[in-house]
Amino acid sequence: MNIVILAAGQGKRMHSDLPKVLHPLAGKPILAHVLDTARQLAPSCICVVVGHGGERVRERLSSSDITWVTQEPQLGTGHAVMQALPYLDPAVPTLVLYGDVPLIRTETLIRLMQTGAEEHLALLTVCLDNPHGYGRIVRVKGCITRIVEEKDAEDAERAISEINTGIIKAPTAQLSRWLPALGNRNAQGEYYLTDIVALAAGEGMTIETCHPEDSWEVEGINSRAQLAALERIAQRNMAERLMEAGVALADPARIDVRGELLCGRDVSIDVNCVFEGKVVLGDGVTIGPNCVLKDAVVGPRCVIGPFAHLRPGTVLGAAVHIGNFVEVKNSTIADHSKANHLSYIGDATIGSRVNVGAGTITCNYDGAAKHRTVIEDDVFIGSDTQLVAPVTVGRGATLGAGTTLTKDAPPDQLTVSRTKQFSVAGWKRPIKG
Ligand code: UD1
Ligand code: CA
Repeated sequence: MNIVILAAGQGKRMHSDLPKVLHPLAGKPILAHVLDTARQLAPSCICVVVGHGGERVRERLSSSDITWVTQEPQLGTGHAVMQALPYLDPAVPTLVLYGDVPLIRTETLIRLMQTGAEEHLALLTVCLDNPHGYGRIVRVKGCITRIVEEKDAEDAERAISEINTGIIKAPTAQLSRWLPALGNRNAQGEYYLTDIVALAAGEGMTIETCHPEDSWEVEGINSRAQLAALERIAQRNMAERLMEAGVALADPARIDVRGELLCGRDVSIDVNCVFEGKVVLGDGVTIGPNCVLKDAVVGPRCVIGPFAHLRPGTVLGAAVHIGNFVEVKNSTIADHSKANHLSYIGDATIGSRVNVGAGTITCNYDGAAKHRTVIEDDVFIGSDTQLVAPVTVGRGATLGAGTTLTKDAPPDQLTVSRTKQFSVAGWKRPIKG
């Protein structure tokens, strides 16, 4: 099949400089969801029709399997598909998708493609309690004769609850006959793709319909509120998938996955955690409330949070503990090591069974470049220690609390860098005059 994705609309109601289809939904651009779904169908071509902001869309989502077509000016959905016609294989049917309808299921599209004969027109329709704004499916004795847009409809037609989702399967050879025959004498002065339905019916073609399982599959995004509503649905779907796979979620309504989250067995995730990019959680991992993890790999039986922040390049071994207000970036921490309170661990390589005391900071940045901190196995780091990188703490070493380490610490010894404590006998606090 050919796939045409319509994405030339301006998205004015977003009130944004970013093209509408580039706004993120569950961590990736709205249009990327549609593209990924389209790819599942292994089409012979994917044509994306862009208009306003098209260059930015093309740059952001460029891929060798996409043919980009510019529609300028935007004269309607029929006009948009017409711009893609030269790139379509006339021998196979064409599936039209909308770039701003991101949650359509692959299975629904497969069913639509299997609806009716290959040379027949098939429409994805739904019945809505409030069909306001949509094109209505007009049937005579059960057979579809045309689609009428809200703005062109008479009262009786407005009462029809079956609406056009906009997603259709059309025979490509007929499409190239129908599209040039469209007129624009309607309430919006546009070339309506929906008018091909009347042309097909006029030729005696039977027009079939198929329906999505859930109505959110065909919901479009025109405003920030609609984007937020679909974000919730995408998150709920993700949470359901995780729970089906055996993940314990304290509250499926309070998890946000903005990318890919891979979990082992018996993973438990408390409320208000955000997962970005690709996050891998090993068997038996426990994530406390209010954690943010991005592009991180967490080994089996690790205990994370509450309030932990794992940033890109974090790789934790088995049974590592990362506690509250601890930030880890671009660091490897081996088995059974712990950093439980108030720390920054950046650009570090930490061995096994290391205890990182409360308030420990790796000073990885000198204002110009980043440097690494190496902490070998069985090290004990006292509280409130600063490790000024590049620096290495040898195996089994102990750093006294409050140490500012600027030179390597030898293995198995105590290293402390603080002034000796002293007391002044008879000293009095100053008194206000
Ligand atoms: C369209 C349908 C309507 C259907 C509704 C579902 C037509 C004439 N009407 O109406 O029957 O119920 O979608 O949401 O087809 N686009 C372009 N170029 C254009 C115009 C639109 O690429 O010149 C794209 C938009 O970016 C969008 C899609 O086509 O992805 C639909 O456009 P929109 O303006 O939302 O269509 P509606 O008028 O809502
Ligand atoms: Ca619309």
